[in-house]
Amino acid sequence: MSGIVPVLPDSAPFSDNQRAWLNGYLAGLFSADGLAGTAASATVPSEPEDFPWHDPALELDERLALAAGRPHERVLMAAMAQLDCGQCGYLCQSYAELIARGDEKDLTRCAPGGKATARKLKELLAETPALAAEPAASIAASPAPAPAGRISAVPAPLLRCDRLNREGSVKDTRQIVFRLDGTGLDYQVGDSLGVHAANCPDLVGALVDCLGVSADLEVDCPDGSRRRLQDALAAVCDIARPSDDAIEVLASRAQDHEEADLLQAIAEGYPGSGPEDADLLDLLLAFPSARPPVQELVGALGVLQPRLYSISSSPKATPGEVHLTVAAVRYRRRDRLRKGVASIFLAERAAPGAPVPVFVQQSHGFRLPANGDAPIIMIGPGTGIAPFRAFLQERRALGAGGRNWLFFGDQHGATDFLYRDEIEGFARDGLLTRLDTAFSRDQPDKVYVQHRMRQHAAELWAWLQDGAQIYVCGDAIRMARDVDTALVHIIAKQGRMEMAGAKAHLAQLAREQRYQRDVY
Ligand SMILES: Cc1cc2nc3c(=O)[nH]c(=O)nc-3n(C[C@H](O)[C@H](O)[C@H](O)COP(=O)(O)OP(=O)(O)OC[C@H]3O[C@@H](n4cnc5c(N)ncnc54)[C@H](O)[C@@H]3O)c2cc1C
Ligand SMILES: NC(=O)c1ccc[n+]([C@@H]2O[C@H](COP(=O)([O-])OP(=O)(O)OC[C@H]3O[C@@H](n4cnc5c(N)ncnc54)[C@H](OP(=O)(O)O)[C@@H]3O)[C@@H](O)[C@H]2O)c1
Repeated sequence: MSGIVPVLPDSAPFSDNQRAWLNGYLAGLFSADGLAGTAASATVPSEPEDFPWHDPALELDERLALAAGRPHERVLMAAMAQLDCGQCGYLCQSYAELIARGDEKDLTRCAPGGKATARKLKELLAETPALAAEPAASIAASPAPAPAGRISAVPAPLLRCDRLNREGSVKDTRQIVFRLDGTGLDYQVGDSLGVHAANCPDLVGALVDCLGVSADLEVDCPDGSRRRLQDALAAVCDIARPSDDAIEVLASRAQDHEEADLLQAIAEGYPGSGPEDADLLDLLLAFPSARPPVQELVGALGVLQPRLYSISSSPKATPGEVHLTVAAVRYRRRDRLRKGVASIFLAERAAPGAPVPVFVQQSHGFRLPANGDAPIIMIGPGTGIAPFRAFLQERRALGAGGRNWLFFGDQHGATDFLYRDEIEGFARDGLLTRLDTAFSRDQPDKVYVQHRMRQHAAELWAWLQDGAQIYVCGDAIRMARDVDTALVHIIAKQGRMEMAGAKAHLAQLAREQRYQRDVY
């Protein structure tokens, strides 16, 4: 074999995505030793592949740019939210591969990526219609992993739901405790718990009223089950983020032409065409002429996905239980109070003792160091504290001697210092070697965890030189990005490196599993 991989000439009549797919396909074919030219001979290049887009702190466009020129299934992977969270039942890579080879038709499973991801997947597939039908050579042999979460969900009784914020806080963060005894589930610190929640019954009631049919009408659900309409809308259908297919059904059945056109524009993702970020009720209210047969509408809705929560307990400290730290999502839009599906289900409606279907989502690398003497630096504002409470409980239970440094932040010290007594206790008794807090709204100018990191840059660098592992948990887009930037600056200044060198240093720490993130 010549070793020369052909690429499409610039003049070839393909879009960027088609070109990327074809070039990837050719690379797959021609990388096979001495067997170029037949699809059957195509294999995956033997060198370990890097996935530079596989970073949840990057925006969709940035991820796609990093995947440009890669095989089609990798471009599809870049469209996902890169959390490997398992909410879709797969990892980002395997979900993308299954879509590419036509074994997974549902493009709406990436819950963190939401509509933007679903639309981009649709667009990418549409750009390679002929090719999408064919298996991509580089993935033809990879096994299809079974959807994980849904299969293993088991009912676990809710034991407690306690508010962690004190009186006067605008935030509502809950400590949720489930009993695991008798469920057959176990977990390690660093894992997440998947929760199958039900939609708000008031919202379901309003939808049934709007549709003008009986709540008892039997319908076929998008998950293949058959249920009463009320149960279908409560437990199976995603009514908060109606799928583009469902919006197209509304468009096709709207009596009013203008409404039909607007609905079609919304389904196709044109900004400004209708109520922004509309849930199903918003659409039914805004487009009163759109009343399709209920079965048609329900069948086109997406399936309600489980939500994941970082586990905030150690099984060694709280045997038979699992703890979560859940921020209740409430906000107003178009004069209606909106409630996060799962967080509000847990905070307001799951009754003590009631069984809730849950599953353990194993972490892909967010783990304490095997060496208990290794120092760790944990950066976890807000609910990002969750896995670090678990890490500290675990290190205490193991008698691990390594130093522990926690950066925590939230709005106000007096009301929002989550697990304050426990964390300050850890600091007092020496388990926490260092505790630095950043209460953003206790002074006129915002103070965030990364400001504290910069203030203690020399010490942070010294910990890194001593082999410390760094962990970040919490908000992906704003916090995790800024913390990443702060780390690069600290490394550059303290290590006397150029910015490029500092970035490479941090990337190397990540490759060595010394910089790990659980961000969402
Ligand atoms: C691996 C992983 C770990 C996680 N760990 C935790 C954790 O420990 N604790 C935790 O609380 N969450 C955690 N999450 C997030 C969690 O899974 C849910 O996404 C979160 O609870 C919201 O889900 P929900 O069903 O309540 O809200 P949804 O019904 O999904 O609604 C959330 C959506 O509402 C919209 N929204 C929210 N606030 C506003 C606002 N102010 N204005 C306008 N729109 C808004 C946004 O579009 C947002 O995506 C984690 C996620 C992952 C992937
Ligand atoms: N969709 C949204 O707009 C939105 C907004 C907030 C939270 N969330 C999500 O809601 C969930 C719960 O949030 P949470 O209670 O865990 O905490 P959070 O809202 O992320 O806030 C925790 C602390 O982080 C601060 N913070 C804000 N931006 C930051 C940044 N760029 N760098 C560092 N710190 C920053 C906050 O300060 P200030 O609040 O004073 O800025 C607060 O003190 C998370 O999933 C989060 O992603 C979403």
